[in-house]
Amino acid sequence: MIDRATVDKILDATQIVDVIGDFVSLRRRGANYLGLCPFHQDKNPSMSVSPTKGIFKCFSCGKSGTALSFLMEHEHLSYPDALKYLAAKYGIEVQEEEESPEQIAQRLKYESLAIVSQYAGEYYQDYLFNSEHGKAIGLAYFKERGFSELTIKKFGLGFSPIGRSTFVDAAKAKSYKEDIIVDAGLAIRRDNGEVVDRFYDRVMFPIHNISGKIIAFGGRTLRTDKSVAKYINSPETELYNKSRSLYGIFFAKSAISKEDKCYLVEGYTDVLSMHQAGIENVVASSGTALTVEQIRLIKRFTNKITIIYDGDEAGIKASLRGIDLILEQGMEVKVVLLPENEDPDSFSKSRFKDQILSYIEANEKDFISYKSDLLLKDSGRDPIRRANVINDVIASIAVIPDAIVRNVYVEEISQMFDLKSESIFTKISSLRDKRKNWNRVQEEYQPIESPQEAVEPVNKNQNQQSAANGLITNGLLAVSEREILYYLLKFGLYTLIFEEDKLYNAQVQEKITVAHYIKSELDEDELEFVNPIYKSIYDLYYSNTSLKVFDNEKERDFAQQRVMRFFMDNNSPTISQSVLKILSAEEDESALTIDKYKDSLVPEEHKLSRSVPKSVLLYKLRITEQHCMQLTKKLGEIRLEGNPQLQITILSQLQQLTKVKNAFSKELSRL
Ligand code: CTP
Ligand code: MN
Repeated sequence: MIDRATVDKILDATQIVDVIGDFVSLRRRGANYLGLCPFHQDKNPSMSVSPTKGIFKCFSCGKSGTALSFLMEHEHLSYPDALKYLAAKYGIEVQEEEESPEQIAQRLKYESLAIVSQYAGEYYQDYLFNSEHGKAIGLAYFKERGFSELTIKKFGLGFSPIGRSTFVDAAKAKSYKEDIIVDAGLAIRRDNGEVVDRFYDRVMFPIHNISGKIIAFGGRTLRTDKSVAKYINSPETELYNKSRSLYGIFFAKSAISKEDKCYLVEGYTDVLSMHQAGIENVVASSGTALTVEQIRLIKRFTNKITIIYDGDEAGIKASLRGIDLILEQGMEVKVVLLPENEDPDSFSKSRFKDQILSYIEANEKDFISYKSDLLLKDSGRDPIRRANVINDVIASIAVIPDAIVRNVYVEEISQMFDLKSESIFTKISSLRDKRKNWNRVQEEYQPIESPQEAVEPVNKNQNQQSAANGLITNGLLAVSEREILYYLLKFGLYTLIFEEDKLYNAQVQEKITVAHYIKSELDEDELEFVNPIYKSIYDLYYSNTSLKVFDNEKERDFAQQRVMRFFMDNNSPTISQSVLKILSAEEDESALTIDKYKDSLVPEEHKLSRSVPKSVLLYKLRITEQHCMQLTKKLGEIRLEGNPQLQITILSQLQQLTKVKNAFSKELSRL
């Protein structure tokens, strides 16, 4: 952990033009700089870098962020590593903050698991190369399959000995703790307390994480006996998260970047053989359906995935399952079918690199033609099944984020199936509308710390009307919350001036910061933000920022800059992403009142005394509306139950709320 003061020091020193200029050649254009965007295939410079705001933004692909997030994206650095990079660049000494006892315990545990896994890797490899049994069975097997010693060593392949606890005993003799061996997934503790090897008498494939550490193993039996499982894999451990790992990613990552393309195969041996043939940009999903996390892992290096699966039925079906997920991430997906009875392993073993690549090039199909061909073959001439196929393909196109790409595909299938493209577009836009609402609900209700435990989206079978109602209000409320945060983050330390006591004509001026004003208004009505991310930002703001009024404008601006940066470069990507979105309010499609203020010639900060109260009021109005709607809904439900007393109570509450609402509306129109 780098302490906050050092982070501030580093970011104070950071000049975004310097930082990005190390990777992209930038030319001055007015107050900003322009360059080719490195995040997409940019032909004309469309990335703008603002030295004053400390932000870059690509007008073509939409990517934006700070110097720090640029480094994280472009150099694939973690947050602390990007900070350290900047510290080194600007000659700032980094003092790491002390870890809490739990953090230390966690790190030590993690390190022990990694160390024992590393030991296991060496142990299995040593057994493969140096024991009589290993050489005669394991090494002979790998050689017979055509793997060179170089490949075997590069991927750290090994062999696990026969015996109930041969490995465990060896590890314990090297003073590895039993608990750690078990927790690393290398051994199993039986109910009677006995600890036995998980892997025995198998050739071993270590699984490496993206930085090359062994985190798990797959072990293949050499027996043909059907009662023995072909593969045994490590269980999930603190080290190994199956859905986030890809076999071969460490050995493939630089080739993927260089070739700007990633081949996806099914198994360990497919990766090995392609590597050995000289094609290194290849990873395996290890026989399971691809997960979003795995796709994101690939996406750090390229946007293009080509799936190469065996020509058999199961392989094809498996690849189809993955496609929509890949498309949804905005990636280009192609599929190659290998000749019958071949898998990438056998295919690349019997050919040279050029032959393999030219086969791929000649047979690569984009997913549309692939999916349609395949499904049509299945459905034959049956018109209903044919219609289903078309819908299925359209549904795949609908998940593609880029409109231009979608249009290309629409044209393609309109010809293929002899359909009007308008009708396909209509279908797609209705599918997308549904998805959009869906995503909005999910996005706005995702808790910040534990995205895995995201609130279940609204029940699909729920009454459509009421779901839609809730959505609209929540959406607007979120816009209001965002708007308040915009003022808080950008102008929180600025002062508002209210002419007080108009009644007595006394010219009393009250000075209060924007942040103070917002807090007192919300506290007064005991209001809390509904959107959990916005609420965290709000809470974080007030626990880190003072409400004092700055008399010196320079000091204030400096402090304000720091506040913005604290959020934009936050350790939590959820926070920094949201804050970046909030601060670039001009792109917001919603009805932000900020937009209207932006147009005029008077600078935003001169109108705060009007715009901030207005935003707060609008927020209160929307909350009240939301309450009204909930009460109305409740009233409807209660009517059915027939509880007159409760009905009356709610009705009067509703009346009061309506009064409040009207008062807010009136006040708002006055402003
Ligand atoms: N797999 C698995 N468990 C199984 C079968 C398969 O985890 N019981 C995973 C492995 O990652 C394997 C991949 O699915 O590499 C593909 O399976 P398969 O084609 O059966 O294995 P190969 O690795 O290709 O092995 P081989 O070529 O030796 O048959
Ligand atoms: Mn195989």
